[in-house]
Amino acid sequence: MKKISGYSKLTKQQKIDWLVENYLDNDEAAKAELISYWHRNLETQNTLDEFSENTITNYFFPFSVAPNFLINDEWYCLPMAIEESSVVAAMSNSGKFWSERGGYHAEVISTTKIGQVHFKYSGDKSILKASFPEIKKNLFEGGKYLSVNMDARGGGVLDIELVDMTEHEADYFQLKVSFETCDSMGANYINSILEEYATQLKEIIQTDQQFEGEVQIIMSIVSNYTPNCLVRAWVECKVEELGTVGGLPSEIFAEKVRMAVKIAEVDPHRATTHNKGIFNGVDALIIATGNDFRAVEACGHTYAARNGTYSSLTHCTVKDGLFKFWIDLPLAVGTVGGLTQLHPLVKRSMQILGNPNATQLMMFCAVAGLAQNFAALRALTTVGIQQGHMKMHLLNILNYLEATEEEKNYALEYFKDKIVSFTTTRVMLEQYRSAKNAVK
Ligand code: MEV
Repeated sequence: MKKISGYSKLTKQQKIDWLVENYLDNDEAAKAELISYWHRNLETQNTLDEFSENTITNYFFPFSVAPNFLINDEWYCLPMAIEESSVVAAMSNSGKFWSERGGYHAEVISTTKIGQVHFKYSGDKSILKASFPEIKKNLFEGGKYLSVNMDARGGGVLDIELVDMTEHEADYFQLKVSFETCDSMGANYINSILEEYATQLKEIIQTDQQFEGEVQIIMSIVSNYTPNCLVRAWVECKVEELGTVGGLPSEIFAEKVRMAVKIAEVDPHRATTHNKGIFNGVDALIIATGNDFRAVEACGHTYAARNGTYSSLTHCTVKDGLFKFWIDLPLAVGTVGGLTQLHPLVKRSMQILGNPNATQLMMFCAVAGLAQNFAALRALTTVGIQQGHMKMHLLNILNYLEATEEEKNYALEYFKDKIVSFTTTRVMLEQYRSAKNAVK
């Protein structure tokens, strides 16, 4: 039976049995494999299971670190959860490169988050607008009981605006609420306040005689676009201090990087790949620290398109002998709440980072994005991306072809001066194996 009702009610073992029976050819080895990835500590496994629903096992990802990051004059080692070859190596190279040129600098520009109550009101909008200061006061007061902890931590609701959206849709308005959520990402807190405001707004409009129209709440939800929760990271040095990079003299390298960034500023096709590379670094750190990479990416991409055309998140100037390279990135991250105190490796990541607060983590993420972008541009504008990338990918190909340790060592040597591809690796391995057999 490929369809089932009540799957979520089954035990984990029953879920696996059903899955294997119906979708994995009743293969006992598949069953054993799924079970083999359970954590040996039952308590840890239960915690992991409860992060999601219908959990049957764990999905493994490499957990790596990139050392040698000098950020605002302090040394850091960045934890990264990512599966793509060369990303961590690139990150480490960038860390080292800039640590020898003054390091990375970062500052948080603002930390405001936004939530919206979308609603319809069919009455006279001038009355709604005129009475909004009074409504706002009531909402502030009425939502306070949900904000006690956040207020005590120095955060809370900053403002509530009424936004007239009727030019887009008849009777459509928004409450646009801004928040400071301190060290938490804040989505749950924001959503609770918004739902409370929606209920109260409806009640006010329905009970106050001056409002003659109908009110309908459409929805209340945090906005993942946080342009005012913004961090900047940058590196800079004299052009000559860049040294010879990938065989290029410093002035030529600096100018090629500036041009590569300019291309991403003006061309959405290149900007998408360019920003993808940035998120290789950002997401790896975001995942390692138990944050929501979907929210972070959605926000970054919207920001990249804020002027009407999708564009680069990084910028570069070469002026008066100075090379400057920077990123502005809106980011909503948390270092308390969510997975941060629950996931064992997230706790370790936080420890590795010196138990940062949210603004520090914002800075680390921006640095990770900038470092990754620098590494990509450095390779792209000099030796090309495939040299480093395929060398790393070689190991994946060799594993796929079930190469032994001895064969891997031979292959790494063999490909030092040759182009790696699936076919060249397969042919090399076949030749190596038949030569070995001939000797026997
Ligand atoms: C690959 O994951 C990322 C790059 O394509 C980024 C870039 O092109 O800038 C190398």
